Amino acid sequence: MQKKDKEPIRVDERLAHIAFIMDGNGRWAQRRMMPREYGHKAGAANFKKVVRYCGNIGIKTVTVYAFSTENWSRPQREVEAILRLLNEYLDACEHDREAQDIRYRFIGDRSVLPADLQARIERVERVSAGRVLTLNIALNYGGRDEIVHACNALIAAGKKAVTAEDISSALYTADSPDPDLIVRTGGELRLSNFLLWQAAYAELYFTDVLWPDLSADDIDEAVRHFYARQRRYGGV
Ligand code: FPP
Repeated sequence: MQKKDKEPIRVDERLAHIAFIMDGNGRWAQRRMMPREYGHKAGAANFKKVVRYCGNIGIKTVTVYAFSTENWSRPQREVEAILRLLNEYLDACEHDREAQDIRYRFIGDRSVLPADLQARIERVERVSAGRVLTLNIALNYGGRDEIVHACNALIAAGKKAVTAEDISSALYTADSPDPDLIVRTGGELRLSNFLLWQAAYAELYFTDVLWPDLSADDIDEAVRHFYARQRRYGGV
């Protein structure tokens, strides 16, 4: 990822976890008179650069919204294209040298995914355990679905009443801290069922830039906004 601005930015422990809603792939393609799948391909390529850049500036956990529980309603051709990109990405996770310092975690309901995809996901998670930079990939993920799933797991474990900590520890993200900053590209001002529980105190940053165009400078800008805000967690 090329930076126009030469000043290197570095984050500290206040910005341990950044999450991205990768929106705008379809429009990026349409502006080029290309099919939407072309935008997802460009989006997947930029996703790799963004993750690398976040690791380079000191972020410890990155979460991306790759495929929501609602995305199945898209045309079959588009769904297939996204799943194909994911499969290609899993190949890269296993074989690319530069992917070898990332700990991969997949969040969401994987039970409905094709069996071979589930097996690859489990393998990538197992092999990458213990690495420094955690990447959570939300796949067939919905925030409400996650909370319902967590509550049912707690009931199944015999809980009669639950605490906020119980719920946090039963979410797909149980082993990640809550996100400090959520960035949404593509100009929409909403969370779209992403990390609903975990976003309670996250700073939100929205940009009109379309996901395939999100650059290192754009990330730096989001980071600067984050540091300019005061996080009070309900206090004064
Ligand atoms: C939203 O843009 C994007 C998605 C629903 C899919 C995101 C997928 C990728 C970036 C590629 C695959 C991911 C990985 C991890 C390899 P949109 O299609 O809603 O764009 P639009 O709002 O312009 O139509």
